[in-house]
Amino acid sequence: MELTSTKSKWFSSQVVDWYALHGRKTLPWQINKSPYKVWVSEIMLQQTQVITVIPYFERFMARFPDVASLANATEDEVLHLWTGLGYYARARNLQKSAKIIHEQYKGQFPTDIDEVIALPGIGKSTAGAILSLSLQQHHAILDGNVKRVLARFFMLDGWYGNKAVEQRLWQYSEKLTPKNNVTEFNQAMMDLGSSLCSRAKFDCEPCPLNSKCLALKNDVVKQYPNPRPKKVVPKRHCHMLILKVKDQLLLEKRPSEGIWGGLHAFLQFDDESMLQTYLAQQGIKYEAKYLDSFVHIFTHFKLTINPVVIELNAHPDVINDNQIIWYDLKSKSEVGLAAPTKKLIELF
Ligand code: ADE
Repeated sequence: MELTSTKSKWFSSQVVDWYALHGRKTLPWQINKSPYKVWVSEIMLQQTQVITVIPYFERFMARFPDVASLANATEDEVLHLWTGLGYYARARNLQKSAKIIHEQYKGQFPTDIDEVIALPGIGKSTAGAILSLSLQQHHAILDGNVKRVLARFFMLDGWYGNKAVEQRLWQYSEKLTPKNNVTEFNQAMMDLGSSLCSRAKFDCEPCPLNSKCLALKNDVVKQYPNPRPKKVVPKRHCHMLILKVKDQLLLEKRPSEGIWGGLHAFLQFDDESMLQTYLAQQGIKYEAKYLDSFVHIFTHFKLTINPVVIELNAHPDVINDNQIIWYDLKSKSEVGLAAPTKKLIELF
């Protein structure tokens, strides 16, 4: 969607007006605001809801009211106050950053966005949020809430783990962030994303953006943002030869590189004609019995295995590239078996 400056102005004023009426303004980190308080709250709010964060934030501030107290604490004390919030790397990074601020910035939270981004655990969006919410600096933000609002409003296709999609969202966010009222706008976008425009329970009727939201217009709100695409796993097929002589089955030891390296497995062929050619070369006359095929899943592909059983009265002189053994069903030869081979042996 083309974003004209008229439309951009409309968007930001709708959002800011909505904030004046419905936005959150009295959360503990919004009272007597400071970059330190907003920083701690933003880190706690990553992956955690406001309602959960409030008591943690209050205990944290009571114990660590400023950068110096956090920098001088032990890691155990910090982690203790984080217990239950999860994602403990957030707490460790918070303290690492506090030490840096204490030593390099005399305990004053830096006010230059690049210096803020350089601190451990703070990305571009969190840095923008801290500086815009606490000091009214003009920065766009793009947390999960904002991404969802924008993906729906513009019906932006693609998964936003994809760099190009994320870049497009940054462009939208930067164009929409107003010169004035940046604090209200940014807080409102996060509030909208975590309330009316949440992932599953969205409520478009009271939304200030509903008259121009493309996903709503097309009745596809649920489909946005597009989920991470499922990985397409390549499919392969093979035929496995189960050559049986009385209580013995023919296995080969697979070369150490490649799948089932070093394990014993039935002889494997890319297709049936290769299996037939092999049997003809070995001079084996046979009647084949076809068992049900099944799928074995590897991390990078799915292998459909078509087992073919051939029973003979006497051991043939098998010539094979890999070392072979006759696996004894009674004494259960002690060799490593490939998973599908084990499964097939259990049928006999
Ligand atoms: N998620 C991250 N930051 C937030 C904030 N300031 N308000 C609401 N939700 C948030």
